[in-house]
Formats: sequence, structure tokens, C-alpha cells
Amino acid sequence: MAQIAIVTGASSGMGARMALLLAEGPFGISQLWLIARRRERLLSLQEQIRRRNPRIKVRCLEGDLLSDAFFDTFSAELSRETPRILFLVNGAGFGKIGSVSALALKQQEAMLRLNCLALFRMTKLCLPYMKEGAGRIINFASAAAFLPQPDFAVYAAGKSFVLSFSEALNEELRNRRISVTAVCPGPVKTEFFGIAEEFRSVPFYKKLAMADPDRVTRLALSDSLRRKPVSVYGAGIKGLRLMTKLLPAAPLFAAMRLFR
Ligand SMILES: NC(=O)c1ccc[n+]([C@@H]2O[C@H](COP(=O)([O-])OP(=O)(O)OC[C@H]3O[C@@H](n4cnc5c(N)ncnc54)[C@H](OP(=O)(O)O)[C@@H]3O)[C@@H](O)[C@H]2O)c1
Repeated sequence: MAQIAIVTGASSGMGARMALLLAEGPFGISQLWLIARRRERLLSLQEQIRRRNPRIKVRCLEGDLLSDAFFDTFSAELSRETPRILFLVNGAGFGKIGSVSALALKQQEAMLRLNCLALFRMTKLCLPYMKEGAGRIINFASAAAFLPQPDFAVYAAGKSFVLSFSEALNEELRNRRISVTAVCPGPVKTEFFGIAEEFRSVPFYKKLAMADPDRVTRLALSDSLRRKPVSVYGAGIKGLRLMTKLLPAAPLFAAMRLFR
């Protein structure tokens, strides 16, 4: 029975980096299943992994996580292969900056369907195959999960779902020794902002705080290995998290308006 890791959002940014870390690590993974829409990116990552660790078989499951057809195929693949899943990394996600009034309905729905529903579906389908005593789920939430964000409202609310869902599931799976880690970074230098800034640019205070994706991903993996329920990179974002626990939203909204 193959021991595998599954990574969504593997064609770019933190998903791609996580796939490389998992391929290099001493985790006993025999197969890596990579999921995203851009096939050529997945093939190029497959080649990089082959050069670094030829013992790992890489499967590129090109597909759109917004389509039901993808989940039908994926579910059938799981039943056919009956793998033992050591790592499930839910990395696929996107955000659009702009007000609820200005952004198109379809785009905001797609954000929720990818960031929340697809993450939930992947998790639910994979759960029966997660290895008891060793399985790890790594869900990319965001620091946006810590507080409501005007002009990023749907994205932030969706990431609050990911954080809440991950923490609750981590508790539910405690007896099976399967851990769930919600990764909650602030802004990270990836292709994410190229997509997010289509209609409106990111506030300058976020530009100042851009983190290095390698560092964020390494911390996420090491926190997952230590079974931490939440992974937060950097003193600034840790401080922000504390403030959101101590202060009501109004003064935080005022600060956001000031530094926009
Ligand atoms: N960068 C940040 O500032 C930041 C901060 C906090 C949290 N996050 C979260 O971290 C995660 C990774 O983000 P990133 O920064 O690495 O972004 P990224 O470089 O833009 O990567 C996003 C990934 O999601 C995949 N994806 C998008 N739509 C998809 C769809 N419909 N079906 C399948 N795959 C899809 C993309 O692949 P294809 O386009 O090839 O499909 C890509 O591999 C996301 O969940 C994001 O919300 C990011």
C-alpha cells in the first residue's frame, strides 16, 4: 500500500514549496500527488522532484477544484489506489481585494468555493485514508482569519472558516493521532498578489510586511510535525493575533483606515 502526500495548489507559491520539502524529507513518502490547473507547472515540479529524489513517484492530477467532475475523479482514484495518506496539504486558494459591492458575485462565490468548500471536500474525501497515528493535514488559512477585513471581506471570512474548521477537526481527530495545522501567515511574496490586485492594490502596510514563502512554508511543515494546531510566521503577525484577541474590532478598523 503506497504511503502518499497530497498537495493542492502545487503549481505555485507555498504549495509548490511544500511539495519540494515533503519530497526531500525523511517522511517515508513513496508517492506525491500534485493538484492544480496548470499542467506545465506541475510537470516542471515533477521534474525537479525527480532530480532531487528519484525514489518518489510523482503523479500530476491536473484539475479545477471548482468543478464537481474533479472531485468525482479524485474520489474514484482514492478508492482504486486505497493509499495511506501521510500528508494532505490544502494549499490552493485565491483572494481578490475590493469591496463586496464592487467585486462580481461570481468571483466572490468562487473565492468561497475554492478556499472553503474545496478544502472541506478534499479533507472529507481523504479522511478515511489518513494514516492513524501519523497522518497530518496542513490547511492554508491566513492571518486574515484573525479579524474581519473591509475590502477583503469574503476572503477573510472564508479564512476564518478554515481556521475554525481546522482547529475543531484537530480536536475530533485527537484519538486517531491525526493532526490538523492551520497555517496563518500575513502577506507572503508569491503570485497571490498578482491575482488579488486585479481591481485594487494591496494597502501599503501589507507591502511592508511581505514574508519569504520559503520561510513560511518551512515553519508550517515543522509546526505540523510538532502537531501544532496553528502556525503563525513572524513576530508582527503573532502580535496582530494577540491584539485581535484583546481588542474589539472598531479600533483595529480605525488603524486600517489610517494606514490604507
Ligand atoms: N501569499 C499570501 O500573501 C498568503 C497569505 C496568507 C495565506 N495565503 C494562502 O496560502 C495559500 C497558498 O497561496 P500562495 O501565496 O502560494 O498563492 P499562489 O502562488 O497564487 O498559489 C495558489 C495556488 O492555488 C492553485 N489554484 C487556484 N485556483 C485553483 C483552482 N480553481 N483549482 C485548483 N487549483 C487552484 C493555483 O494553481 P493553478 O492556477 O495552476 O490552478 C496555485 O497553485 C492560499 O490558500 C492562500 O489563500 C497566502
